[in-house]
Amino acid sequence: MSTPTIEQIYRHYSVRRYKPDPVPTDTIEAVVAAGQRASTSSNLQTYSVVAVLDAARRERMAQLCGDQRQIREAPVFLAWCADLNRLDRICRMRGYDLISSYVENFLVAAVDAALAMQNAALAAESLGLGMCYIGAIRNQPQHVIKLLELPRLVFPVAGMTLGWPAAEPFVRPRLPLDAVLHWERYDTTGDEEALHAYDQAMVETGIYRGRQVGVPGGEGQREAYGWLEHSARRAAQPGRTHLRQILERQGFDLH
Ligand SMILES: Cc1cc2nc3c(=O)[nH]c(=O)nc-3n(C[C@H](O)[C@H](O)[C@H](O)COP(=O)(O)O)c2cc1C
Repeated sequence: MSTPTIEQIYRHYSVRRYKPDPVPTDTIEAVVAAGQRASTSSNLQTYSVVAVLDAARRERMAQLCGDQRQIREAPVFLAWCADLNRLDRICRMRGYDLISSYVENFLVAAVDAALAMQNAALAAESLGLGMCYIGAIRNQPQHVIKLLELPRLVFPVAGMTLGWPAAEPFVRPRLPLDAVLHWERYDTTGDEEALHAYDQAMVETGIYRGRQVGVPGGEGQREAYGWLEHSARRAAQPGRTHLRQILERQGFDLH
């Protein structure tokens, strides 16, 4: 079953190499406006986006986000933020106190931001632009907050590079549908087989070539480094362990 929208969704790939050509302001506006059309919890629209075009500021952002070259190269960097600051101002206007001290409040704003950014991503791709999310915006959020002058109750959830693609498309296989779609109740029957089949499919793409070093099992018994090994290694490393304090400093008390 397909439609032009589904076909476009299936063509998605993260772009990490960009041409230097600028993206016109009205194109950036069209992309963000499409983001705004996403569903939003109670129509509260608890997100904001900061567009960073200035090369020196993108250079600083690149340094803060794991030194990713794509942030220097892409003409546009969008910082998608959970934003309860606007709602706080609205509460004050109307004589109420905003409650921002529960996990739920942050979750509402983070989900709103995520839905908007993905709508924007699809809109961008429909215009021939490429994009890549930048979770590394949360590597040093305190410095990102300073760079972007984010006020209290605004937190950068994800970045996005945006520009005209300069690399060949590479569409990454996804897990078999059965692994993620459950009917009526959560059921992992047959999962292991599906995960191994996916592991094999990912190895065959060649993206892990050269990464076999250090796979447990020792010389001669090495399994191929594939998606299973990659994912497990990734999940076994602590990362961004200080976010709670920074969120609390920004006014999100996660009770
Ligand atoms: C929230 C989020 C954060 C991400 N952060 C980064 C990042 O910092 N750098 C990067 O190169 N890719 C990043 N990615 C892109 C993923 O690696 C990519 O979506 C995934 O490998 C699947 O590949 P595809 O998008 O090409 O299908 C991120 C994706 C998401 C959804």
